[in-house]
Parts: sequence; C-alpha cells; structure tokens
Amino acid sequence: MEIISNPSQDEIKEVAKALKDGHLVAFPTETVYGLGADATNEKAVRRIYSVKSRPADHPLIVHISSINQVYRWARDIPEYAIKLAKEFWPGPMTLIFKRSNLAKDFITGAQDNVGLRVPLNSIAIALLNEFEKLNGFGIAAPSANRFGGVSSTTASAVVDELAMYLGKKDLILDGGQSLIGVESSIIDCTAMTPAILRPGAVTEDMISSIIDWPLTFDTKRTQVKASGLLDSHYSPKARVILNITPKPGEGFIAMANIPTPNGAIRLASPATITEFSYVLYSSLRLADQANINVVSVTLPEPGGLGDAIIDRLNRAKS
Ligand code: TXA
Ligand code: MG
Repeated sequence: MEIISNPSQDEIKEVAKALKDGHLVAFPTETVYGLGADATNEKAVRRIYSVKSRPADHPLIVHISSINQVYRWARDIPEYAIKLAKEFWPGPMTLIFKRSNLAKDFITGAQDNVGLRVPLNSIAIALLNEFEKLNGFGIAAPSANRFGGVSSTTASAVVDELAMYLGKKDLILDGGQSLIGVESSIIDCTAMTPAILRPGAVTEDMISSIIDWPLTFDTKRTQVKASGLLDSHYSPKARVILNITPKPGEGFIAMANIPTPNGAIRLASPATITEFSYVLYSSLRLADQANINVVSVTLPEPGGLGDAIIDRLNRAKS
C-alpha cells in the first residue's frame, strides 16, 4: 500500500490505471474519504467488502464524473431527479435510481436500485475523468472505514482504519481533510416523489426549494439493506452519550458557546454548524486515541446540516 499526497495530474493517471487493473484506491471527497474500486470489476469490488469487513448484501455508491454518466447506470430517471442532479452535482448528494444492466448484483446488493454520486473534490473529479478516459464507467466507493465504525475524514484516519487490510498495490490518495465531514445526503428517486433516506449537507430545505413534489423524509421508505441506515453505525470505540452532562474524565463535544462541565475533556468547540460537521468524526477519533471511554455530545439545533449531525450521532450512540 502506497500513500500519495496531493497527487499531480500524472500521478492521478497512474492511479486511474491501478484502479482499472483491479486495485483499490482510497481517495478524498468533500464528504468523507471513499475506498474505491472499478464498479464493473466484481473481484475488485469484492475486495472492498473484505477490507471493510462489510456484509456482502449492502449496496455501494457508484461515483461518476458527471450527470451524463447517469444514463449508463440507471433507468426510469424521473424529471425531479434531473433537476436535483443539475442543481447539486457535483456535490454531497447521492441519488438512488432503478438500475441499468451495468449495475450488477455485486454493486447493488442484488437490489434493483443503484446509488450514484458526482463528488465535489478536485482529486476525486480528476481521478474519475482519468478513469473514464481508460473506458472506466464509475468508481464504487463506500466510506473508507471498517464496517460500523466512524468514517474517515483524513488520509491518516484511512491508514489507521484500513492500512493493515490493504494489499501491496492498493493506494491511498491524501488530499487533506474532507471539507464537509459527514456523508452525502441520500435521496431515493425510484418513486413518483423523492424521499430523503440519509440527511446530509444537501438539506431538506435546499431540496424542497427546487422541486415541485412534496418531499418525504423517510429513512425507512425503501426496504433496502443500507448500512448507513442501520440503527447502530458510525460508532467509535468510546460510548457515545447525547445531551447528558459528562463526568470528570469523560469527553465532551458541544458548540463553542456551551461551557465545558467540570473535569470533562473538551474534544471540540465548533463555532458554527458547518464547523461541527467538519470536526465531528475527527474528534470522535481523538477520543479513541486518547483512550477516553465515554464521549458526551450536546446535539446541535435541528434543521439544515444539524439534521445530518443528529442523525449520525443517534446511530453512533450506544
Ligand atoms: O458521502 C458519501 O456518501 C461517501 C463518499 C465516499 O461518497 N460514501 C458513503 O458510502 O458514505 P457508504 O457505503 O459508507 O454509505 C452509503 C450508504 C449505505 O448506507 C448504503 O447502503 C447506501 O448508501 N446505498 C448505496 N447504494 C444504495 C442503493 N442502491 N439503495 C439504497 N441504499 C444504498
Ligand atoms: Mg459508511
């Protein structure tokens, strides 16, 4: 396994070739780091599952370079989805469509749906473009962490999580810290009207403002196996408790205007909701590195990006 920091265009060409040859590549996106494989290569995709220790029936998001690639992977694309894609791609939004023949069972967990996303990160986009020049169709990538754990927002977190499971020719691209810090919004576009399955930085208000259909917020709408929608996920080793005063020696995460209770170890004091999502996962990792057993988080206000943070913390809590 090799780490390439701030890869040049030439290096990205080589990395795209490694992907095409069936190796795994962890790469930065604006949400979290992904662990990528050629989405048409069954053997490579199977390795993602074993490296993550993820159950094989949980579907993967296919990352594509632009809206033009949607038609290769999906069918029955509703008008409202095109609107969403045009407005929010590239960006932190995954759309779920009825799949085309290209989206095999090993990508979709044998469901008739496929998740697609155009990420907003210069390294990710350059990699997708180079990969497509080699006749690649898309890069399957879940978050680059072990199953059930905290997503990686830095290359060093990817190393800590996965290095020991990666092979000699697999690669990690270091592009600095992910700017958003929580995973993409997932929107089901397989029905007459859209539904938010996982909240993210493309918020309910942003979506409602550009579509005419009533929007449902229903993480249980599709009966799909979606690991990010499991009741327990995104969990550090430390026990996460919510809105409970921490005891001395326990970790504490809250907005900057909330003082640290006596003896608690302050892990983050974000001044804004954007900063909260940016620091959330790295501060949970910090707790594990410092062998802190309990982390108390004061939930932010609901609405906007707050919904995504509250969603992840409710699943992270033990
Ligand atoms: O921000 C993100 O979405 C990151 C970056 C790397 O793009 N990826 C990510 O992937 O969070 P993952 O696999 O850790 O979480 C994606 C979620 C999972 O819960 C998965 O089951 C769900 O999306 N998903 C993927 N394809 C799906 C499909 N066809 N139908 C329903 N859910 C799907
Ligand atoms: Mg994940």
